[in-house]
Amino acid sequence: MEVDASLFNIDSQPFFEAPKGFLAELDSLSPAPGLEIGPASYEDIVDIYRLESEIEGADGADFVTLTSRWRMFGAGFLTARQDGRLVGYIESCLWDCQLPSFEARPDFFTSRHRLGAETLYIIFIGVAADCRRRGVASSLLTAVNGVGRYYGARRLQAVSRDYIMPLYEAAGFLPLTAMPDFLPEPAVNFMLMEHSLL
Ligand SMILES: CC(C)(COP(=O)(O)OP(=O)(O)OC[C@H]1O[C@@H](n2cnc3c(N)ncnc32)[C@H](O)[C@@H]1OP(=O)(O)O)[C@@H](O)C(=O)NCCC(=O)NCCS
Repeated sequence: MEVDASLFNIDSQPFFEAPKGFLAELDSLSPAPGLEIGPASYEDIVDIYRLESEIEGADGADFVTLTSRWRMFGAGFLTARQDGRLVGYIESCLWDCQLPSFEARPDFFTSRHRLGAETLYIIFIGVAADCRRRGVASSLLTAVNGVGRYYGARRLQAVSRDYIMPLYEAAGFLPLTAMPDFLPEPAVNFMLMEHSLL
């Protein structure tokens, strides 16, 4: 679906100049050659919205929600590009929320985000279907780990679909608490995963 961003009257100036220093070293760490990881720009959001729609269908975040999350914390919203094409992204916020208590409302993340909070929470990570199992998500998790350290977080957290847990475990996360009612997906269980940064 095409999006005319001007309809939303959102300033295209970079809203947030994310620190890029910690990302420079990723080139040597990345298991996926040629992958470029960096903070999302305003212009990236249309591509991110398209990819989100491909991955999550009608359950995906809409363009306005994605834009508000980027405005909330641009440094924690990273893209992965290969030969210029957006192949993956990760969204995060800093908060003090104690999961498994969770409120399923669209502004939950933006209302709770706080610079200086101790937890970097991964809102969503997605990779294009034809680019999976090549280390793209792992590279994004390595990068977001750098974001968490840069902002003084003590831990990373994510709620994982049960069958995706090996991805987080490979990145150093451990299962913390089952969250069976996190999303209404039949036959899927959810687990709060945590990676200590101490
Ligand atoms: C989950 C997702 C982001 C993984 O992206 P990816 O780039 O393929 O992941 P990686 O290549 O970095 O995988 C690294 C390791 O994680 C594990 N892993 C990744 N995807 C997995 C899957 N679908 N099932 C089981 N293990 C998986 C494997 O151990 C993998 O190593 P291997 O390929 O050597 O076996 C991608 O499949 C996706 O976008 N899925 C739909 C959206 C989604 O579910 N997001 C997570 C929200 S909980």
